[in-house]
Amino acid sequence: MCGIVGGISDRNVLPILIEGLKRLEYRGYDSAGVAFRENSKISLIKAKGRVLDLENKLPEKKIKSNQGIAHTRWATHGVPSEKNAHPQISENKIFVVHNGIIENHMNLKEKLQSEGVKFRSDTDTEVVAHLINLHMQKGMDFDSATLKAISQLKGAYALAIIDKDNPDLIIGARNQSPLVIGEGYDENFVASDIMALAPVTNKFKFMEDGQVAFITKEKNHVITSNGNAAKLKTQEIDSNSYTNDLGGFNHFMEKEIFEQPDAISKSIEGRLGKNETQEGIFGSGFEEAVKDVTNIQIVACGTSYHSGRIFEYWSHKFLGINCRVDYGSEYQYQEPIKTKKTLLVTISQSGETADTLSSLKFAKKTGLPVTLTICNVANSSLCRESDYTLLTNAGPEIGVASTKAFVTQLACLNLLLLTLMRVHNQTPNARKKITDALRDLPKHIDKTLKMTDVYKSTAKLLFKRSSALFLGRGLYFPIAREGALKLKEISYIHAEAYPAGELKHGPLALIDRDMPVIALVPDNEHLDKIQSNIQEVAARKGKVVTIGPLGKTKITKDGGHIKIPKTLDLLNPIISVVPMQLISYYTALLKGTDVDKPRNLAKSVTVE
Ligand code: F6R
Repeated sequence: MCGIVGGISDRNVLPILIEGLKRLEYRGYDSAGVAFRENSKISLIKAKGRVLDLENKLPEKKIKSNQGIAHTRWATHGVPSEKNAHPQISENKIFVVHNGIIENHMNLKEKLQSEGVKFRSDTDTEVVAHLINLHMQKGMDFDSATLKAISQLKGAYALAIIDKDNPDLIIGARNQSPLVIGEGYDENFVASDIMALAPVTNKFKFMEDGQVAFITKEKNHVITSNGNAAKLKTQEIDSNSYTNDLGGFNHFMEKEIFEQPDAISKSIEGRLGKNETQEGIFGSGFEEAVKDVTNIQIVACGTSYHSGRIFEYWSHKFLGINCRVDYGSEYQYQEPIKTKKTLLVTISQSGETADTLSSLKFAKKTGLPVTLTICNVANSSLCRESDYTLLTNAGPEIGVASTKAFVTQLACLNLLLLTLMRVHNQTPNARKKITDALRDLPKHIDKTLKMTDVYKSTAKLLFKRSSALFLGRGLYFPIAREGALKLKEISYIHAEAYPAGELKHGPLALIDRDMPVIALVPDNEHLDKIQSNIQEVAARKGKVVTIGPLGKTKITKDGGHIKIPKTLDLLNPIISVVPMQLISYYTALLKGTDVDKPRNLAKSVTVE
C-alpha cells in the first residue's frame, strides 16, 4: 500500500529518497512527503498527489542532507491531503512515516489529548510521533521513548522515525507490514520494499515482526521484541530486475502483458522434466507431506483468487481431490474444514496481502498440517509463514492491475497439479500430455499477443459504455471474472462476470443494444450450452464479442470473434485471459484513465 524509504549517509540522501519514492509510487499514490536534515534543521515538505508534485515543491537551492525519511501514501485514516500526508510530526521534533493501521489509535489519542497534546491530522500515525515526544519530555532518550511507544501500539505497522536532536539515527520497526534494511558502505537505508533501494545497494536484511532497528551510518542493530539482538542475515539480492524502466512500452501494464511468454518460461524453467515435474521443486519433504492429502483449501484475493478458482476445477477433474477456494477476507468467517489431511495453498503476487496472510496464520492455529504459498516475492511474509514455497518468478509487477502474476500463478498451479498427479499415482500418459502442453504455453501466448488490432477495435466498442458483461462456463468462468476485474479497475467501466447459464436467472434483464457482452467460448462439452446463452443475448440486441479457440462459427455475433490458439482444454483459459487484458488496456487508453495507477487502488494491500 504505502511506501517508506529512509537513509543515513555522508552523501546527499534527498535524491535517493525521491528516487525511492518514485520506485514505490505504484504502492500508494495519493500524497507524498519527505523530512530531511541539513545540519541541525529538519525540513518537512509534503504534497497532495504524486511524487512529482512533491518533487516540484522541493527548494531549488542545492541541498546536502545526510539523513531523511520519505513516504508515499494510500489513505486509510483521513482523506488524501497535505495535512494527512506523512511524515507525521510532533512539535517539529519527532518525524514518523508509517505503513499499516494502528488499531488502538483512538484510545491512544484520547490519552494524549488528556495530557494536552494537540493533533493536526486525521491519521492514526500521528499518535506515534506524539507518544515518543511525550516519553522524551518525561526524561527518556530517543531509543527508550520509541521502544516504549512501540510497546503501546496495536495493529500493523512498518515505521521509520527520526528525531531532530538525534542526527545520527533512524529507528525502524516492523509488525505485520514489511520493512527491509539496505546496507551500503558507511551508509544504511530502510524501506518497505527492496524496489526502493535497488539503485543504491544489493545487500538487504529482512526484518521480522516485533523487531526494531537502530540504524546509523556505520551499522544497523536490530533487536527482537524481548530486547535481544536479532539474528538477521544480510542477503545479496540481484537488484537488476528491480528496474522501473518501461523498456520502450507506454505503461508497466502493457510491458508486463507482453512479458507473459517469458515470465511463464521462467516459472517452468528447471521445474518441468521431459514427461512431468522434477522432484523436489516445492522443497524437500513436500511430496511426502502431500501423499495423503484428501482436501485442498486455497486462500487468495482478487486476481490471485481467480487463479485459485481455476485450480479448483483441475483438482476435481484430474486429482479427484476436493478443493475449496476462499477469499482471504472471508476465509475466517466460515468454520474451516478441519482435517489433518488438508493442504492449504495461499496464492499471492506480493506475498504481503494482509487478508491472505491473516488467513494463513489463522489456518495454522487450527492445526492444518501442510501450508504452501505460490508467490512472486521471495522473502515476503507469506513465504516466511508457509512450510513450502513455489516462487512464480514473474519478476517485479509494477502495474497495479495484475497480469503476468496471474498467468505465472496458473503455470505454477499447473506444476502443483502435475506433482500431485505423480504423488497420487495418476497415469504417466495424462501427466505427459499436460507437461507438453504447459511447455508450449509461452508460444501460444506470444501468438495471442500479436493480434493487437482486433483488441483495439473491441476496445472501441467498449470505451463509451457504462457497463459490460463477461460470460463463461466451467473453467472459463474464473477467466470471465478476471476479465471483468481488469476492465473495471483500469477503465472504471462497471463490469460483471456471470456463469453463462445464470443469465436467464436475472441479468438478462440488463441486456439491450447498449450492453456489450464478452463471451468465452470453449471447445469442450459446454460449447452447445454457451451457444444457446449467446443466442439469448443476441435475441435481445446485445452486442456479443466471442473469444475462444474455435474458428468463425455460428457463434460469431456482430461484436466479432477473437480466435486464440488451441491447446489442451485445461490450459486454454490461460491463453484466453490475454485478449481480455489487452482489450481492457486499450479501453483504458481510449478513456484516458491512469492505467498503471488507477484511482483509489494500490499495489500490495497490507491492511485488512
Ligand atoms: C487486480 C489486483 C488485485 C490483487 C489482489 C491480491 O488486478 O491486482 O486484485 O490480485 O489485491 O494481491 P496479491 O496477489 O499480491 O495477494
